[in-house]
Amino acid sequence: MLSKIKNIFIVLLLVLVITQFLRPEKNEASYDSIASFEEATAVPAEVKTILQNKCYDCHSNTTRYPWFMEVSPVTHYMAYYTEKAKEHFNVSGWEIYTDKQKDRKLEEFIEELEKKEMPLKPYTWIHGELSNTDTEKLISWAKETRIKIKETPKDSVNIKEIDSTTVDSIKTENIK
Ligand code: HEC
Repeated sequence: MLSKIKNIFIVLLLVLVITQFLRPEKNEASYDSIASFEEATAVPAEVKTILQNKCYDCHSNTTRYPWFMEVSPVTHYMAYYTEKAKEHFNVSGWEIYTDKQKDRKLEEFIEELEKKEMPLKPYTWIHGELSNTDTEKLISWAKETRIKIKETPKDSVNIKEIDSTTVDSIKTENIK
């Protein structure tokens, strides 16, 4: 019995050692894409700090890598969940979303926080839970941003631009 446990232990140890060498690709683009999201949504300094400490590691193209994030299985866990998280909501691709999508993302953002679903659980073991005050700050910023997007829609401007270029191209086609 004892030797069986010992064998299992050795196998586990081996797996752990081997996985240290199987490095997933890092998610570390420059901060520029996040900066343009912060500018577009006018993120106040204190909200920015919360997002940096609790959300960007998974929801942007820029994860921080302190030493414990480099160690397996943490590094594999992060690589897997960051990919999943970015499919749903990625601040680094903010300008690609239409106004309607932005509004929907912020609605989900508020819902996730109200249900206390985010940040994802095991992550908070290391990075700490989100306090109630911080949750409120994030929610009220998201609500304000939703109103701003509705008041100053960007898509309508883009649509106009696209329209005029389409019209132009049709004209040139006719000339040909
Ligand atoms: C450890 C990684 C991780 C962290 C940190 C994290 N999330 Fe997520 N988030 C995910 C994953 C993974 C999903 C995809 C949905 C799922 O699997 O539950 C997700 C989904 C979401 C969604 C989309 C939900 C939907 O309905 O599509 C929003 C919005 C969101 N998270 C907001 C946040 C906010 C706000 C924070 C910070 C307070 C945060 N997340 C922190 C991993 C994370």
